[in-house]
Amino acid sequence: MDTMTSPASHVCDADFVAGIGVHWERRPLTPEPGLAALLQQPDLDHGGKATVVQAVGTMVVDECVAHGYHSMDLVVLHPGTPGLDEALERFDKPHTHADDEVRYILEGEGLFGFFNAQGQERVLRVGPGDYLRIPAGVEHRFTLTAVRRIKALRLFADTAGWVAQYTQRPAAAMAAGS
Ligand code: LAC
Ligand code: NI
Repeated sequence: MDTMTSPASHVCDADFVAGIGVHWERRPLTPEPGLAALLQQPDLDHGGKATVVQAVGTMVVDECVAHGYHSMDLVVLHPGTPGLDEALERFDKPHTHADDEVRYILEGEGLFGFFNAQGQERVLRVGPGDYLRIPAGVEHRFTLTAVRRIKALRLFADTAGWVAQYTQRPAAAMAAGS
C-alpha cells in the first residue's frame, strides 16, 4: 500500500487524521551538537534520556499547560531493545487508551495506523519533528519501519491509566520493512 511506503504519505493523510480528531503538527527540531549526538546513539542510559527530556521538553510546555500533561519521558526503541518484537506485536494490534497518547518524534521513524468510525485505516509515517496528540478513545496502532529505531517524547496526564484496550478488530500486520 502506497501510504506505507511513500515518505511523503503523511502529507496526504492530514485531512483523515484531522477528521478523527488526531492533532498532528510539525515542530521542527534544531538540536545543538551535544543533543544531536545523543539522539544519534541507538540507546541511551537513564542520564542520557533525562538530558534529552530536559532539552526537548521546553518545546512542548504549551501542550502540557493546555492539556494537563503532568509528566513526560523518552521512549527509545532500537534493534537491541529487549523484547522488541513482542512489544511491536502488542503495539500493532488496534487499540484505544483512556488517556490521550502524545508523542513528539525526535529520531528514527514509525508508522501509526488510525481508524475512522467506519473502520477504514490510514497509515501516517512519522519522523523527527512530528508531534501527535491522539485523543482518548481514538483507535490506532503503531509499528516501526525497517529502520527499527525511534526516539519519542511521551507526554502523560496520568501514567497509571496507560493501558491499551484492544478493539479486537481483525487487521493485517502493518508492513515491517516498509
Ligand atoms: C502505544 C502506542 C504504540 O500505545 O500506540 O504505546
Ligand atoms: Ni497506543
